[in-house]
Amino acid sequence: MKTIDELLAEGVTGKRVFVRADLNVPLDGTAITDDGRIRAVLPTVRALAGAGARVVVASHLGRPKGAPDPAFSLAPAAARLGELLGAGVAFATDTVGESARATVAVLGDGDVAVLENLRFNAGETAEDDAERGAFADELASLADLYVGDGFGAVHRKHASVYDLPARLPHAAGYLIAAEVAVLRRLTEDVQRPYAVVLGGAKVSDKLAVIDSLLGKADRLLIGGGMAYTFLKAQGHEVGASLLQEDQVPVVKEYLERAEARGVELVLPVDVVAAAEFPDLTAKAPTEHGTVDAGAIPADRQGLDIGPKTCELYASKIADAATVFWNGPLGVFEHPDFAGGTRSIARALLDSTAFTVVGGGDSAAAVRTLGFDENAFGHISTGGGASLEYLEGKTLPGLAALED
Ligand code: 3PG
Repeated sequence: MKTIDELLAEGVTGKRVFVRADLNVPLDGTAITDDGRIRAVLPTVRALAGAGARVVVASHLGRPKGAPDPAFSLAPAAARLGELLGAGVAFATDTVGESARATVAVLGDGDVAVLENLRFNAGETAEDDAERGAFADELASLADLYVGDGFGAVHRKHASVYDLPARLPHAAGYLIAAEVAVLRRLTEDVQRPYAVVLGGAKVSDKLAVIDSLLGKADRLLIGGGMAYTFLKAQGHEVGASLLQEDQVPVVKEYLERAEARGVELVLPVDVVAAAEFPDLTAKAPTEHGTVDAGAIPADRQGLDIGPKTCELYASKIADAATVFWNGPLGVFEHPDFAGGTRSIARALLDSTAFTVVGGGDSAAAVRTLGFDENAFGHISTGGGASLEYLEGKTLPGLAALED
């Protein structure tokens, strides 16, 4: 994989460089609630602009349906990028149309522009190779060089991620290089014990990674909504908690495989439960309580791991040498159910292990709960991407940069 430093050494002055970033930041209306992904691409943008390139930054945001949708405009992200760079950033109101062409045409050396959301064009995500290719051709006409730095999207076989690098001389940006270096430490010569904390709502999203980790990790600590499918597979009643009944047989098989392989698969022993899912906007105090994980009342749903579980998981993290954490342990957006996620973050900070926080949600949780992100070994900007890397899959956006 060619590095951006090699590209810079060859000279980029006056060249139009297309930077595929992942500016898919969480928004509350037009307000960015966590700008971590924008800050993550700054080193690449600064280096290129500083070397006199004409930088064209492009990204997706959310999942619009292949047509312009103001709710998913990248305008707020472009404005924030400008603030962080301390320089004006031009914004094209389309992807490959008149505005994009005019914006790129007037860029001077060292200038930066952002294109509108790539997913406003159906060609970006098309499954049909020709349709994606046609969009990639149009994008290619806007640039001389390509730098891939949208780590969070490298698992997507999309036009700007996969097809465009095949059409332009290309290199990997600083963020992708850093993310891949960390993920290598989790897959090659990993320091043991290797503990993995997995949260998040749906077990179905995590099946492939659990399958793969059962052969690699020493401990799997399960939390979040998906824990209830595991508890059910162990024969417990889970009340009104989130449950993917159809996944129970698969999860049962995982529990058996973990035991046979000597992998510690650890489940909550207590949970914080409530009768209602909380209102995440008002965040008003709820009526809730801690119950045994094996005795969740029929009319209550588990919304966080309980204090005994926090202690148990912290002890499993304390003497690990490597820890990977993906997914919130509870509904951390509400203060009544943030304790589990906070305690895992704290346990990672207290440990001397190499700690990696993977994923948009967990990274946002860490920052929202007020932790200093620099205190963690690494906070990945890609949730799905880092999980697919750990699953051992070939990631289209990385493969495209290899050639
Ligand atoms: C993410 O948020 O994980 C990335 O930006 C990818 O977004 P996607 O899941 O909509 O492709």
